[in-house]
Formats: sequence, C-alpha cells, structure tokens
Amino acid sequence: MKNIKLSGLAFGLFIASFFGNYSILSAQKIKKEITIQKTITKEYLTSNLTKNKAYYTKGKVADYIPELGKMQADKIAFSVVNADGRIISVGDINQKFTIQSISKIIALMVAVKENGEEKVFKKMGYFGTDKPFNHFANLDTNGKPLNPMMNAGAILTTSLISGEKDLPYQKILEMIRFITKNPSIDINSSVYNSEKETGHKNRGMFYIMKNSGLIDGNEDKLDNYFRQCSIEITAEDLAKIGYFFANHCTRFDGDKTYFNIEMSKLIESQMLTAGMYEFSGEYARQVGLPSKSGVGGGITVAVPNKKIGIGVFSPSLDEHGNSLAGYHMILDLVNQYKLGLFD
Ligand code: DON
Repeated sequence: MKNIKLSGLAFGLFIASFFGNYSILSAQKIKKEITIQKTITKEYLTSNLTKNKAYYTKGKVADYIPELGKMQADKIAFSVVNADGRIISVGDINQKFTIQSISKIIALMVAVKENGEEKVFKKMGYFGTDKPFNHFANLDTNGKPLNPMMNAGAILTTSLISGEKDLPYQKILEMIRFITKNPSIDINSSVYNSEKETGHKNRGMFYIMKNSGLIDGNEDKLDNYFRQCSIEITAEDLAKIGYFFANHCTRFDGDKTYFNIEMSKLIESQMLTAGMYEFSGEYARQVGLPSKSGVGGGITVAVPNKKIGIGVFSPSLDEHGNSLAGYHMILDLVNQYKLGLFD
C-alpha cells in the first residue's frame, strides 16, 4: 500500500515536472519569437520599400531651388541603425542627396554647445507651427522666430555660431562628418549656388532679423545657411544621425565624445514639435517619434525608447515639403515593430 502511494507520488512529480518544463520551454519559444520579431531585418526593409515606393508618383520633386529639380524622382533608400549599432540599408543606398533642413538640428547643436540654450532661446521660441517652413511667422509681430526648425529660426541659429566667413558652416560640416564617421561628406556646389541665387525669401528674413538687431553681421552669415543645406549625404548617414540623438549623442560605434543627455532632449523635442513643420502634430499622432525632414527628400528619425536610428530618402514631396514615400516607409516600420513613443 505504502509502495503504491510512493509510486503515485513519484508519477505525480514526473507529470508536474514534465508539464512544468514544457511550459517553460514554450514560454522561452514565445519569448524568442517576440525577440526575433523585434529585430528589424533587411528582408522586412526591402518588402516595406517595395510596398511604398509607388508613392513617389503622387508627390513632386522640389524645384523652387532649380538644382534640386534635377533629382530622379524614383530614387529611394531606407536605412536603420539598430540599438547595437548594426546598420541595415536597402534600395539606392549610394544615392547622395542634399541634407537641406535636416542640417538645422546639427546647427542647433553647434550653436547651443557654443552659446548655451538660454542665450539661443532668448532670440527665438519653442513654439510649434501651423505654417510652412519658409513662413515669416512671428517676425512681423513679436519679432522673434517661432522655433529653430523653420527657416527664420534656423538662419538665426546658424548666425550665432562663431567665426568669420564660412567657419560656422565648417563647424556644422565637421559635426556631420563626426556623427556619421564619414569624412567624405561634402557640399554640392551646384545646389549651393542655386540656393544662393534663388533664396530671396530667406534673404528677406535675414534682413528683417538684422534690422531688429537679432542678427549681427553681413550676408556671409546667410551664406552659411545656404551652404549647410547643400551638404550631400545618404540615407545611411541620416540613420546614423537619428541614432546619435536617440542615444544621448552617442555615435553608432559607441564613441561618446559629445555625450550629452540635455542636448539630445532639446534636439529631439524640437524634432517632435516642429521637425515636420505644419505636419508635425499629425505626424506625432501617426508616427510618434522625433523626426526631421528636408526638401532634398530625406527624413531622419530618432527612436529614443528603443535606441534606434532611421534614415529614409525619396525626393518626391508632399504639400508640406516632406518626403511622401519616406513618410509611408517610416509609418509602416513603426507600426510593424511598435517603435512609437506612445506605443
Ligand atoms: O531654405 C530652404 O529653402 C532650403 N534650403 C531648406 C528648406 C527645407 O529643407 C525645408 N524642409 N522640408
């Protein structure tokens, strides 16, 4: 009788441990599947790009700067720097294009590093906007630009970087080369000349701010803004820039020369509230990540909660001046991997 009881107990223990181990194993398997799903793959980026490429037919390549209009509309590239610094890129990954307004976040970083945040933001606001990027908003009313992402604030920001002639531009260029670890990055002189020849609205803003005493100096200061917009990069460079700000100003290879939590919080908050101009609010609702666009067709995205950087390129733009296919690629990626700040 005692033996029967003991063997019953042993059998019970065997069954419990079998199912116990089985459930641990299945939990591990499920966890592994979730982990695999969270790693962004090249296959996924390719299918995402293929799905969204046709959006280029629904937008328009910027031609208000004539040289930009020469870009082939169907070029497209997608790049991600994962949390461990691993880079995945698909599409026209060697295609260079001008950084345009994305340079504004780097100029802001350099200006704040030199002057401090308080001094810079005494001259401009932290406001969002319902106006296009080249609007004179606020200059005629309270005299101060709305924020450093719209042209007026960006021109002012660059004018606050110290140095004669093109030195402020050189500082911005060097910072972009550092962040991307890409010393071959340089200016596209034809785009620069085209910006300079046709940038009369920007010139108007420059002189209004000079008139009100916000800007001190001659047109060399404005030229630096035209130069910074004309720097040529790739989608991969943009993913590295996104990674840098998502990781408190740590480079994708782990270099912490510029490590600065407050700086990344400032830049990312500007990207979130004004980086996509008048589309920023709707973009925050749909994508929910700090992003910065440029009329060259690039968008850089910082994913601070997952420590990832995203870079996209497709030169055909929507009515706000943001890359149309680029936006849809970002949106699908964010939904697929639940990358949004509010997910
Ligand atoms: O000031 C301009 O017109 C251009 N160089 C930069 C504008 C820009 O990229 C706006 N972004 N979408």
